[in-house]
Amino acid sequence: MTAHLKITGLGKTFREQRVLRNINLEVERGEIFAIMGPSGAGKTTLLRILNLLEKPDTGSITLDGDTINGTQQSGHSAARQRISMVFQSPALFNDTVYNNVAYSLKVRRMDKDIIKSKVSQSLRLVGLEGYENRNAKTLSGGEEQRIAFARAVVFEPDLLLLDEPTANLDPGNVAKIEEVIRTINRELNTTIIIATHHMNQVRRLADRVGMLLEGELIETGSREEVFEGVADERTRAFIEGEMVC
Ligand SMILES: Nc1ncnc2c1ncn2[C@@H]1O[C@H](COP(=O)(O)OP(=O)(O)OP(=O)(O)O)[C@@H](O)[C@H]1O
Ligand SMILES: [Mg+2]
Repeated sequence: MTAHLKITGLGKTFREQRVLRNINLEVERGEIFAIMGPSGAGKTTLLRILNLLEKPDTGSITLDGDTINGTQQSGHSAARQRISMVFQSPALFNDTVYNNVAYSLKVRRMDKDIIKSKVSQSLRLVGLEGYENRNAKTLSGGEEQRIAFARAVVFEPDLLLLDEPTANLDPGNVAKIEEVIRTINRELNTTIIIATHHMNQVRRLADRVGMLLEGELIETGSREEVFEGVADERTRAFIEGEMVC
């Protein structure tokens, strides 16, 4: 059987710098997969390629057997409807929460009543029900990021990409966002790939983990394998905080 998400031989070079080298990875439907690695390892670049914001120089990515990104032009528009991403900073529009969350559904020209019910379901998932009429710019940082999650999952993507989604938050809000991530994964069975520096976050959230170092995925395994078993020397140094990140 073909893996839900399959990355084969992926490579990317910016100018002279090889940022990603021969990445091979399979992720199953409904998994939470954490990509850990120090600053500059290539985490964001990998997520941007998965989100079709960037093209790789080598290799390909398939989602349920359909090629979604690769060196050849492929069925981007259909794939785009199945993938969503949340960034470190939410960048909401200066508008109501409702209009922020409803945006991708309005673009799809969905029926107004359906949009309304999907927006309220999405706000419930992130624990901000009733926030529809608030202006997004009057929210706290933690609330803004939860709205960014609501906006990202309102169209029920198959694949949700998270690029250090708690990097700018205090511990209380980190815990809330982690709960949102678990809820989305459990209730919508969304496959989640999260890039993070934070070992404790990986421990709390991930089913499986990959260690990216200088553009190479040097190790993948279950959370238990990576944290408790015999890990690559360099992964161990990273986990134990010896590697600067
Ligand atoms: N558009 C670009 N043009 C040139 N170089 C780039 C570009 N995007 C990324 N890079 C380089 O690619 C390397 C990997 O960057 P990337 O942002 O993917 O790392 P990262 O693992 O996400 O780091 P961080 O943890 O700091 O976010 C870096 O050396 C970066 O300078
Ligand atoms: Mg990054």
